[in-house]
Amino acid sequence: MGAAAHAVLLLVGVAAVVSGASAQLCEEFYDRTCPDVHRIVRRVLKQAHKDDPRIFASLTRLHFHDCFVQGCDASILLDNSTSIVSEKFARPNNNSARGYPVVDAVKAALEEACPGVVSCADILAIAAKISVELSGGPRWRVPLGRRDGTTANLTAANNGLPGPRDNLTTLQQKFAAVGLDVTDLVALSEKKIWKVALLSTNLKSDKKNTYRVYAFEFQLWAA
Ligand code: HEM
Repeated sequence: MGAAAHAVLLLVGVAAVVSGASAQLCEEFYDRTCPDVHRIVRRVLKQAHKDDPRIFASLTRLHFHDCFVQGCDASILLDNSTSIVSEKFARPNNNSARGYPVVDAVKAALEEACPGVVSCADILAIAAKISVELSGGPRWRVPLGRRDGTTANLTAANNGLPGPRDNLTTLQQKFAAVGLDVTDLVALSEKKIWKVALLSTNLKSDKKNTYRVYAFEFQLWAA
């Protein structure tokens, strides 16, 4: 198995480990209730990519940032309200996590095709998978059937998501907190996954972001 495939399978592993619910999930979850789910997500993502070449990278990261906080429950999508303090404004997400309108567009398309069926947590998981595929990365099978959370956790997002200034010990601790070891950390931070991320980043129009990703990579390997 190639290194990129290994890293991406580990990304699936992240989703499974931090969601803690892999036993109830299955690939065929929407086969009868929303058989076109993958096709619909793919169509919306391809359309979005025409205006925003970075979108595949952003959606991949959104799934990761969702799963690291309370599991893969779409809590990252919840807005501020009387009962919710949104994770969108946590330090690692604020002005950085992106792709929310595309997730809304996917949700709208799915609601039209099969109302009230596909969870937002599954939309994030499918969007990440298709984003990597459309970027030329490896494919993996995504188990489905996640339930959406009704709570967000700003503190957990601030404390649990890895930050660009975290040292290796802190990164290890943050990964360990969601059941991932140092091998997972290295594999997920490995150059190939960055290549997948960068494949969908428009290098000319978005040099700043590209350099930030490279800077992070350098920091990890230098630690
Ligand atoms: C190991 C700890 C990690 C740290 C400290 C970290 C940090 C960062 C930072 C600082 C950025 C730039 C954000 C910005 O420009 O606003 C970024 C972007 C990104 N990260 Fe991570 N990251 C980590 C792990 C991961 C993992 C495991 C994945 C894969 C699931 C990932 C996927 C991405 C992607 C795809 C982008 C580009 C997003 C975009 O262009 O919108 N990161 N990361």
